Amino acid sequence: MNKRREFLKQVSLLSVGVLTTKGNTSVMAKDVQPLSLHPNAFAVPPYLQHLTPTSTWVMFITAEKAYSWLEYEGESGITQKAHMEEDGIYDSYTTLHKIQIPDLRPGETYRYRACSKPITLFEPYKLEYGAEIATPWYTFRTPTTDSAEVSCLVLNDIHDSPQAFGKLLDTVKDRTFDFVALNGDTFNYQTDEKQIIDNLLTPCTTLFASKTPFIMIRGNHETRGKFRRAFKNYFTLPNNSYHFTFNQGPVCWVILDTGEDKPDDHPVYAGIVAFDALRERQARWLEEVVKTKAYKEAAYRVVIMHIPPYHSGDWHGPTHCRTVFDPIFASNDVDLVVSGHTHRYGIHPPKGVQKYPVIIGGGSKDGTRTAIHITANEKQLHLDMILDDGRKVGEYTIKAT
Ligand SMILES: [Fe+2]
Repeated sequence: MNKRREFLKQVSLLSVGVLTTKGNTSVMAKDVQPLSLHPNAFAVPPYLQHLTPTSTWVMFITAEKAYSWLEYEGESGITQKAHMEEDGIYDSYTTLHKIQIPDLRPGETYRYRACSKPITLFEPYKLEYGAEIATPWYTFRTPTTDSAEVSCLVLNDIHDSPQAFGKLLDTVKDRTFDFVALNGDTFNYQTDEKQIIDNLLTPCTTLFASKTPFIMIRGNHETRGKFRRAFKNYFTLPNNSYHFTFNQGPVCWVILDTGEDKPDDHPVYAGIVAFDALRERQARWLEEVVKTKAYKEAAYRVVIMHIPPYHSGDWHGPTHCRTVFDPIFASNDVDLVVSGHTHRYGIHPPKGVQKYPVIIGGGSKDGTRTAIHITANEKQLHLDMILDDGRKVGEYTIKAT
């Protein structure tokens, strides 16, 4: 790996043209033209996905089919280059780019930019490029492996309203957050790439996503529409799954995909869905997760899932979520469940058969959406629920035991 990194560094030195070293001194390699800055040639600037202490994925969309790469540097000031390579081929002649930066150091600030060359001619033995382009530089910071604190922002039920992101982010402009969890129904149904760009990626990259990662959590509306299968291509999910777990700060985060709200045999699904099986598969997976050291030894265990297991009516989806997930939550010390879906925001402390607090964010119209800000440290986990007009409408605190 060290050899490969050295090789990449050499490639970078030889071919990139402009290298920024410590002290922001620009050094020009011989016979290479400087990169042009044409931000408009990027249909979507870079957005961070699956940021861990030692790696991150960066995604972006170019206006034309291109070969693209990343340039990045940590606190050493040495610029390196990252490609997406599979089977010996650099990912290219595509507009949607997904590139991993490996071998990062925990708790370090990095800067990066996306670079691209449109492929103007692609014949078997002849390939031609257009002019190189690059985005501005962006920064991100890797989490530490033993961080005592974590914070996040949970947004839900945006329902194809790109202006909502600005309003909701404005309510937390004085707060910090390590990641944003988009807790389902960001859309009404999936139509095409333009919808994803206009209603998600453009507002999010404008506001935060080039420096702070977001997690796409599937709601029942993301399971609908002719583009629903391609939808997943626009995100980087651990193990390419909508359900996963990770530890950050003192929290073990559990992300679930609650599927559809109606029974699988409902006529609107036309016989081509299997969400009961999906939920049951996740329950079996969760039975194993709760046995792990990472889960058991975390100070707090927080589940983020679109359809809440309580306070969500008696349709099939919510009741099936309760049937398969609630017994696992109740018997394995889940501290908090954060949901959406009902469009009625509320804080529901444990009561009766409900053994854990259920927090439900609002939606789906202006004036009803909420931003849920969660912070956790060694003393307590605290969340504030803030309405899109800036008013705090709920809070909940869990003291560390
Ligand atoms: Fe929903």
